[in-house]
Amino acid sequence: MEHAGIRIKGLRKRYGQGDTAVDALKDVNMAVAPGEVVGLIGPSGSGKSTLLKCLGAVIEPSAGRMTLGDEVIYDNGWKTRDLRALRRDRIGFVFQAPYLIPFLDVTDNVALLPMLAGVPNKEARQRALELLQALDVQHRARAMPAQLSGGEQQRVAIARGLVNRPPVILADEPTAPLDSERALAVIRILNDMARRFETAIIVVTHDEKIIPTFRRIYHIRDGVTHEEAGEGRAFV
Ligand SMILES: Nc1ncnc2c1ncn2[C@@H]1O[C@H](COP(=O)(O)OP(=O)(O)O)[C@@H](O)[C@H]1O
Ligand SMILES: [Mg+2]
Repeated sequence: MEHAGIRIKGLRKRYGQGDTAVDALKDVNMAVAPGEVVGLIGPSGSGKSTLLKCLGAVIEPSAGRMTLGDEVIYDNGWKTRDLRALRRDRIGFVFQAPYLIPFLDVTDNVALLPMLAGVPNKEARQRALELLQALDVQHRARAMPAQLSGGEQQRVAIARGLVNRPPVILADEPTAPLDSERALAVIRILNDMARRFETAIIVVTHDEKIIPTFRRIYHIRDGVTHEEAGEGRAFV
């Protein structure tokens, strides 16, 4: 039986081939337990986005092994047959640029994923509203994305990444456009989610405001990861 959560061993990713090949990931090793939020930190070009895309089954790694829960999803080749279902049901993405659907209001942008997964509309909207409230953007529930500020759009995108309660959440710079108080509120919500739903969460960040909150941090440099203890500073 595999350890639950996320496990990555010896992961490699090469873009292109021959003279122009780029080895973006050379040796990535990580383990994130259910209920845990870890930070992933590294300079620009070190492979952070590539790692999240591999783990999110958006691109295919070149070698290594990735396990989600008790399922080996990649072992020198995909082992999971339905990658679309994997992305839809088991992984929550929070990207840097919030790709909201312009013709749906805020509530429906968040409620859409659970609706597509078969949750009754009323319950899906209820779940959406709870998250919007937790992210302090409930007053914008009926607004259209174009009417929101950048920070509001980012919080709606975060709500959308969390609403299906996936066992894994991958967040790429989720707090970048937010002020200190809101950035910490986002981290608090991610920690609550992790605890309540046994979610394993990886947060890519440069944000000095939130780095002290992680108990464990992975540093990545030139496609190689190193683990380090974080401050794990309590915050209220
Ligand atoms: N689609 C791609 N094709 C070729 N090289 C890429 C591609 N995406 C990223 N890279 C290269 O892979 C390396 C890691 O990039 P990336 O994962 O985006 O790093 P980070 O997110 O840490 O800034 C960089 O050298 C980058 O130029
Ligand atoms: Mg990146």
